[in-house]
Amino acid sequence: MAATVAPRQDLHAGPASGAPAACGAERDGTPEPRCGARRRAERATRRSGFYANLRPQLYRLIESESVDPVRNPYAPGAGQRPPELAGRDRELKQFEVVLERVARGRPERSMIVTGLRGVGKTVLLNAFRSMAIQRLWGTGKIEARPDQSIRRPVASALHRAVRELAPRHRAPDRIEDFLGVLKAFAQSEPEPSGKSKARAHRWQPGIDVPATRGRADSGDLEIDLTELFVDAASVATDVGAGIALFVDEMQDIPADDVSALCAACHELSQVGGPLIVVGAGLPHLPAVLSASKSYSERLFRYARIDRLDRESADHALLAPAEREEVTFTKDALDALYGAADGYPYFVQAYAKVVWDVAPDTPITADDIKVAAPEAESELAVGFFGSRYERATPAERDYMRAMAMLGDDPVSTASVADELGRKPSSLSPARDGLIKKGLIYSAERGMVAFTVPHFGQFLRSQPA
Ligand SMILES: Nc1ncnc2c1ncn2[C@@H]1O[C@H](COP(=O)(O)OP(=O)(O)O)[C@@H](O)[C@H]1O
Ligand SMILES: [Mg+2]
Repeated sequence: MAATVAPRQDLHAGPASGAPAACGAERDGTPEPRCGARRRAERATRRSGFYANLRPQLYRLIESESVDPVRNPYAPGAGQRPPELAGRDRELKQFEVVLERVARGRPERSMIVTGLRGVGKTVLLNAFRSMAIQRLWGTGKIEARPDQSIRRPVASALHRAVRELAPRHRAPDRIEDFLGVLKAFAQSEPEPSGKSKARAHRWQPGIDVPATRGRADSGDLEIDLTELFVDAASVATDVGAGIALFVDEMQDIPADDVSALCAACHELSQVGGPLIVVGAGLPHLPAVLSASKSYSERLFRYARIDRLDRESADHALLAPAEREEVTFTKDALDALYGAADGYPYFVQAYAKVVWDVAPDTPITADDIKVAAPEAESELAVGFFGSRYERATPAERDYMRAMAMLGDDPVSTASVADELGRKPSSLSPARDGLIKKGLIYSAERGMVAFTVPHFGQFLRSQPA
């Protein structure tokens, strides 16, 4: 494998394994005249005066050939597909069963993935989507936003799902009928007031059939979604497939819309149509759903995902590395688990920096020590800082007080105590933080950070 993806190996006269030894003297900065790669690099840089000042960098790149930054496999970042989806076999199997049962018309609860930020919910949702696509299901995805009705996003997602099924449908007019209903649904937002009114009327869902009147267009989202889902499911039945609608950040769906969505899923589960809504969200999502409809627990199977255990975290690091013929010492794996604490985002973030820093395979605990400060400062800016900056000064005080109380969920009363304030006076800060997705409340009167290690981060910041 290495041979096919190793353009820099061409710089070496010998095979990859022999190259670092031949260029051994590069480490202390002394040029090694017998090294073919070096000679060629020197020749190349000599040809152009402009590049002469890049020579030292070029040497360093050649030297660290075995842990090549260009081939760094790790992927820190929201929703970034990891090089290895570690430790999620149970959830993947469960979803396989859901797909199979729904396809066979068996009653089945759909799945909702919950967890803290950075545990891999979006990535898992995307993996579920790939599984549905592999079974030739139609799929669509939305990312919920606070204060935004799901009507239009759902319309676009179902449009996409049905377009995926359309080429296999024997009766194109059935698809057109559905698209007519879908267009009417999309345009049936209740009358807004003021400026947004004009905008609402201008909006066209990009469906090139005329809207059909009389179905899914009452303006009442619960009625409309139910009718739309039933019709979409029936199109899927025609082609012997299903439709999966994926909803990320599901806790952000406005309360009325959540209630409508649950009701529509409930109706659909009674008629047994092959359409499922698969969600992902913060740990309080089950509480949000059951507050909206008491039967939501019977509609969804909740899968709480969390940190990776040691074995899975090691696998997340080792499998992609070994595909590049790089490995880690046991001490390095110990140190990485200590630093990343098994949180997938942190695993990727540390590994990415460590790879760039490490001169050679195996990657050692010393390499981790060298890389840690840079990894931490990247996390401080990108993962923690970007979120912290979204908070108002009052909200920041609230979070700092929470952090002072430890890393477990804390009571709102104790936060008020810590700040020497009346609990009621802090409600706006608390509600603001919940809305911004920085804290959550899974239990009445208790709050916790949605971001792992956030308390630790805040305690390490100057006040
Ligand atoms: N199972 C996993 N194994 C390894 N890395 C993962 C896994 N799940 C997620 N990641 C990585 O973790 C990071 C966060 O994933 P993401 O799905 O955005 O989390 P969330 O949606 O829960 O905030 C990404 O960089 C992703 O590559
Ligand atoms: Mg996500």
